[in-house]
Amino acid sequence: MTDTGSRTSRTPGAGCPAHAGAVRLGGLEYQQTPARLYRELRREHGAVAPVLLDGDIPAWLVLGYAEVSYVTAHDELFARDSRRWNQWANIPEDWPLMPFVGYQPSVLFTEGEEHRRRAGVITQALEGVDQFQLSRDCRQLADQLIASFAGSGQAELMNMYAHALPMRAAVQMCGMPHAGDATHQLVEDLRISLDAGEGDDPVAAYMRVGEQIQQLVKEKRQRHGPDITSRMLQHRAGLTDDEIVQDLITIIAAAQQPTANWICNTLRLLLTDERFALSVSGGRLSVGEALSEVLWLDTPTQNFIGRWAVRDTQLGGQLIRAGDCVVLGLAAANTDPQIWPESHVGAESSAHLSFSSGEHRCPYPAPLLADVIARTAVETLLERLPDMVLAVEPEELSWRPSVWMRGLHALPVEFTPVMQ
Ligand code: HEM
Repeated sequence: MTDTGSRTSRTPGAGCPAHAGAVRLGGLEYQQTPARLYRELRREHGAVAPVLLDGDIPAWLVLGYAEVSYVTAHDELFARDSRRWNQWANIPEDWPLMPFVGYQPSVLFTEGEEHRRRAGVITQALEGVDQFQLSRDCRQLADQLIASFAGSGQAELMNMYAHALPMRAAVQMCGMPHAGDATHQLVEDLRISLDAGEGDDPVAAYMRVGEQIQQLVKEKRQRHGPDITSRMLQHRAGLTDDEIVQDLITIIAAAQQPTANWICNTLRLLLTDERFALSVSGGRLSVGEALSEVLWLDTPTQNFIGRWAVRDTQLGGQLIRAGDCVVLGLAAANTDPQIWPESHVGAESSAHLSFSSGEHRCPYPAPLLADVIARTAVETLLERLPDMVLAVEPEELSWRPSVWMRGLHALPVEFTPVMQ
């Protein structure tokens, strides 16, 4: 096996016999060609591979389509509450993955009846979103963002467009005004807490996000509107304000990051793949195909952490111990040769696992809303800047160093300047 991820022998993970031969998830080569690592792990370990997370903490990466489906369908065996992890003693407080695994009293970490209560409220609140209105709002947001760079003939789409648009769409769906200082501040603080740049203070920004969402909930208690927050407040489950604040932050974060990467990865595909190049401008079918192909081949949430084994069990021929961490290898599962024996991954159906599956999957209306946001973002950009091309060679585009999200560092483009 080539050294795509590096091996280790003096680590807590490698000390455990089950994790002999474990591969570190990460490293430069991993970022650029994760599909190769998945192939190699599958060859060596089968559908479930021992891996080492940051700081060489052991976990299992589930690579098989059938096995990911099994894990997500069996909450009684693979549950969501991370407090049952058997590795907490080895994990430092400033562990980089803490934001994903540290228990929070949000819908993400609840289980059973309590999860059904929380997820039921979210599902109904999202179902109330008018998709035509959302599409109109996204078009308006897209136009505002495009206007800020259209005159210059060049743009870096990742930050100026793909990240900015779903963030604004998400806070508007939750009931923040379309414009104004409060909305601007919330969008800025969310950006910093989800994706801090140099000089940013993500902890302070996250605190401010909490305060601003609390304020929003207080205002919506006084005066309901046609928004997600008001529908959550009015739901008969009677969630407390604290529960609603937690779940609103989860909804906004869960909407922003993957949808932003979905938009950017789709634009990358449209701009670099000759199958789409001929008809990008105005080719509705092509945009739909590109959006779908990205979910199969460059899915935004490539790995999701995760589930924790409730008791000792077998999975894909591996013995999983009670309290072990199981990472859902969504990207690997989508390209599992067991479902694609001809080695051609078809992008036509929606049977991919990009939105996960089972009780904790991305709640039913959310993928539809994400589709409206992503489709409108891509189509509006192509309509407004029809001669847009990449400003660098395709090989110069680089993927961000994340095992979890698949997204580019930057997507620089150029086009004929448009005076508004
Ligand atoms: C409007 C946009 C979106 C919203 C509001 C949203 C909302 C959510 C929420 C609330 C959860 C937590 C579910 C739970 O634990 O019960 C979730 C989970 C998830 N979402 Fe989304 N999401 C959106 C877009 C997306 C996109 C574009 C993707 C990927 C293509 C995605 C993939 C996932 C995945 C993989 C999970 C984890 C499911 C699991 O634990 O098995 N979501 N989403």
